[in-house]
Amino acid sequence: QTHTITVEPLGREVQCREDQSILDACLRAGVWLPHSCTHGTCATCKADVVDGEVDHGAASSFALMDYERDEGKLLPCVACPRSDVVIEADIDVDESVPVHPVQDFTGTVVALEEIALQTRRLVVELDRDIAFNAGQYLKFSVPARDGLPVVDRTWSIASPPTETRRLEFHVRNVPGGRGTDGWVFGGLSVGDAVSVSGPYGRFVLKIDDDRPAILVGGGTGLAPLKSMIRHALENDAYAGHLTLYQGGRSREWLYDVEYFQALAAQHPDRFTYRPCLSEETQADCGSDATAYGFGMVTDVIAADHPTLSGSSGYLCGPPPMVEAALKTLMSKRLFPRDIHREDFFNEG
Ligand code: FES
Repeated sequence: QTHTITVEPLGREVQCREDQSILDACLRAGVWLPHSCTHGTCATCKADVVDGEVDHGAASSFALMDYERDEGKLLPCVACPRSDVVIEADIDVDESVPVHPVQDFTGTVVALEEIALQTRRLVVELDRDIAFNAGQYLKFSVPARDGLPVVDRTWSIASPPTETRRLEFHVRNVPGGRGTDGWVFGGLSVGDAVSVSGPYGRFVLKIDDDRPAILVGGGTGLAPLKSMIRHALENDAYAGHLTLYQGGRSREWLYDVEYFQALAAQHPDRFTYRPCLSEETQADCGSDATAYGFGMVTDVIAADHPTLSGSSGYLCGPPPMVEAALKTLMSKRLFPRDIHREDFFNEG
């Protein structure tokens, strides 16, 4: 059975099945609603029910408190309609970012390689072209296994939007994780078919901006930043200077270092690259040491810039790193509205 969802203040109407989330129905219809985790934990999508009945689904009690349910709030990413529903969402439509409706695709694994400790690069060739913004992600359907049902896992696209068929992803292993240990690191091979949907996410390069941008990536949080940087440099999609801070514990945890070094050498006026090591010292790195910053990525940023006033920031990685980087950028006079963030909750 389907119901009509009316999205205010846009006044747009969308059809939604009873077993479909309101967010999914909207994104597939090309109606943009804010979202990030898409499974009821981050609260980014929180909106008001103006009229109608919903099933709140798997909304976490942290993301949607009991009193908020009572006040008529919902998380559209997990809520399903039980009648026609009118919702009011906090939609700050950014005209410079095109809305690409979510679609389903079938892909084939064309490359799967070890790139750092517990980290793999996965390259998938889709059955047809996909449109997305640099920084967005796809949802992978992890096949049922050993009696366990199909689950979804999300990974950011690391390749630029001009490569519309062949998409790159970076996956960090989580011991025991269904999508990582049990799939990408546990049996997935070149030639296998995968089912994906997308694009999702609001963490995108603002291509109409021309301010210097500071990009900070921890672990595989590098992926969406790589898409942005390649898009900016290869397609002249961003006029401002980009500085990438890539944080890792030691050299074995970092990847694509030589790739970014070459890119920086090729575009010295437009791109600066700063790989940072938190658990290795200058002495550990010997003759390699000049290539790295030492300490937490936030300490290296703080030492590099007396002020960052007039810049914008893009942060992606584990939540504590994103939080720390946010504080550092704000202490260097960046406004919160100029800092874009994506918290990577790696469920494995
Ligand atoms: Fe809905 Fe995260 S709670 S997108």
